[in-house]
Amino acid sequence: MKAEFWLQRWQQNQIGFHQREVNTNLQEFWGSMELPRGSLVFVPMCGKSRDLLWLREQDFSVLGVEISQIAVQSFHAENRLYPKIAPRGGFECWDSDRLRILRGDVFALKAEDVTNVAGVYDRASLIALPPNMRADYTGHLLAILPTTAKILLVTLEYLQEEMQGPPFSVREEEVRGLYGDRYEIKRLSDKDVLNANPRFRDQGLTHLRGKVYYLRYRRQLTPPNRT
Ligand SMILES: C[S@@+](CC[C@H](N)C(=O)[O-])C[C@H]1O[C@@H](n2cnc3c(N)ncnc32)[C@H](O)[C@@H]1O
Repeated sequence: MKAEFWLQRWQQNQIGFHQREVNTNLQEFWGSMELPRGSLVFVPMCGKSRDLLWLREQDFSVLGVEISQIAVQSFHAENRLYPKIAPRGGFECWDSDRLRILRGDVFALKAEDVTNVAGVYDRASLIALPPNMRADYTGHLLAILPTTAKILLVTLEYLQEEMQGPPFSVREEEVRGLYGDRYEIKRLSDKDVLNANPRFRDQGLTHLRGKVYYLRYRRQLTPPNRT
């Protein structure tokens, strides 16, 4: 899914992924991250999600990245936010109180943009990407994120042959393949979510599972003392 695809989706208002309400997984599982209040949460490919506001209400600072100008503008207009807007590196930076949205390409983020990130919330980001982009995406995140950052990852699993993505089915084996070398991965939830997603059932899905994972960087193994 190239940027052009998403820009067009926003232009045509084809944003079925957008949730009017705060994501229930976020509300249920964010506490498992045990992040100190006040710390910085990174939300890649954030759209105009209300989850950004919920995180801020929980006393976190929030950093979102989103490529679509329409999404970023709508987010601020709909939530009556009046940000300062300024260029920052290759991004346009929209700054409100404890909430920064960088408009631009997540793949252009640098380590210096995410230096203080303590937690990452990925809902409909990894699963928005086709198979051939996912390793680049996670590889990029792993390359720039501080090793102290924990990740809350929300995925969907279904029979890929029953529906074209996005959202794509990203199976647990793949999550473990993408992150498992460097992160401990704990599955927090695995639910049948077909009935809660009638638009996917209408497209022919017979099974749909929603999974939530908590990822934490593996401690470096201390090399044995050589004598
Ligand atoms: C499926 S939507 C999910 C949005 C949000 N996470 C949510 O839960 O509503 C994926 C979003 O990623 C954005 N996007 C796609 N490619 C991107 C990229 N390379 N850099 C930044 N944002 C991107 C799209 O514009 C879209 O808003």
